[in-house]
Amino acid sequence: MSQVIAVIDFGSQYTQVIARRIRECQVFSKIYHHTTKAEQLRADGVIGVILSGGPSSVFAKGAPRPDPALFELGVPVLGICYGIQLMGHLLGGKVSRSTHREYGHGVLKIGKPGRLFAGLPKSLRVWNSHGDRLIELPPGFRAIGTTENSEFAAIEDIKRNFYGIQFHPEVFHTERGVEVVRNFLVGVCGAKQDWTTKDFIQHSIDTIRATVGKSRVILGLSGGVDSSVAAALIHKAIGRQLTCVFVDNGLLRKGERDYVEKLYAKHFRIDLRVVDASKLFLRRLKGVADPEKKRKVIGNTFVEVFEKSLKSVGHADFLGQGTLYPDVIESVAIGNNPAALIKSHHNVGGLPERMKLKLLEPLRELFKDEVRRVGTALGLPKEVVWRQPFPGPGLGVRVLGAISGDQLEILRNADAILQEEMMESGWYYKVWQSFCVFLPVKSVGVIGDERNYSYVIAIRVVESTDAMTADWTRLPYDLIQKISGRITNEVRGVSRVVFDVSSKPPATIEWE
Ligand code: XMP
Repeated sequence: MSQVIAVIDFGSQYTQVIARRIRECQVFSKIYHHTTKAEQLRADGVIGVILSGGPSSVFAKGAPRPDPALFELGVPVLGICYGIQLMGHLLGGKVSRSTHREYGHGVLKIGKPGRLFAGLPKSLRVWNSHGDRLIELPPGFRAIGTTENSEFAAIEDIKRNFYGIQFHPEVFHTERGVEVVRNFLVGVCGAKQDWTTKDFIQHSIDTIRATVGKSRVILGLSGGVDSSVAAALIHKAIGRQLTCVFVDNGLLRKGERDYVEKLYAKHFRIDLRVVDASKLFLRRLKGVADPEKKRKVIGNTFVEVFEKSLKSVGHADFLGQGTLYPDVIESVAIGNNPAALIKSHHNVGGLPERMKLKLLEPLRELFKDEVRRVGTALGLPKEVVWRQPFPGPGLGVRVLGAISGDQLEILRNADAILQEEMMESGWYYKVWQSFCVFLPVKSVGVIGDERNYSYVIAIRVVESTDAMTADWTRLPYDLIQKISGRITNEVRGVSRVVFDVSSKPPATIEWE
């Protein structure tokens, strides 16, 4: 049986981050609901338990508690934040209720390194986020680290192998936090560090098979990284029980549909249904100039077309989706954030409930870089795995104002040249996004001796890590020159190319 580290979830956003750190240490972990019985953990072969953080106070009514029997399992336990307070509370120490939260940086002074802090310096910058505080140690424990505000910021009971830390080792702001996690996993629990992406894939395949059984799964393939990796993974697990639907909304980049067909249907032999709805989308968009209205029309039409296509595919029980962990927190935690709205597009507008489909989201616990590793291990080509983001409404928000088929064609041709040059120069993979925008204004130019009155194409290239902020990329002048020259020469209807030098904020990445 493989070694499992159990992460007991008390509702903290950080639980998944802990799981991620454990994966980084090449150890397998499973997240368990806090009501899970200790017996279950034993049956699963758990070799160590992490009690994660949580927003509650241990004194709050209905505060989540673990099964106390997990302290009798004979395996090491590490309590983090809420976890240390639970240990204090449940094992006979004393926790003081606090009226204000300690939030932000602190300095941990390590008194006795022991196994948890082995190899670490005497003092560490750590990240705190807690209300209650441990003020009296439970029997058998001693303090091994202190902070300005707490003499029991880190504690251990070496006999039972119980550890508690008040700070969050899993967050980026804690200096050398991964080493603390690794020390617990390897030094205390004896984990082997042999869990790899391949193991993740195998484990997911087993889980998908067990979940799906003989049913069918439908997945809306967009050609982006997340849905592509989800499709490849689910396909590997259940083969022809998976049907992918790709909607051509007429707002795709040049050659996109062919590429998707070639890769997924021909190469991976996935049952792929391509629905050509481009005429319908363009008809619905006729005369619609307002960006938000355009998005709505595109979103609603997508749901309608997708839903209709499902009927022709036949009965399915599951809707596969490439939801990642950041999508999960975005749409749950940040209620009013427009990002959550963006993501709702992926969720095909309440479709699962209406169609009585269960969701199958094998990437739900992963972060983007991990998804890329999984995609690579599944044999997806680099240009898919490292693809730049592309908005759901596609070129619909890159032709400004009301859209016409001719304008889309001009944009598609110009954009194809930009992509080609970005690829060839190696810049494509260095930036967050690079694309063309069609400006529906005409400007004067000359071709040969003739005056020419045509449209303007803007080039937008940005660097970013999360799309919340972005800076325009300083592409070499020679490259800009080459792109501009090719666009004005090769794309009919364009007389001028401009380069966007706005950052976000105040501008956004897309023009609409
Ligand atoms: P903005 O323009 O808001 O874009 O700076 C931030 C990121 O989100 C993408 N984007 C969208 N993605 N549906 C999507 O799926 C949308 O309506 C949408 N609008 C913007 C944009 O490409 C950038 O990566």
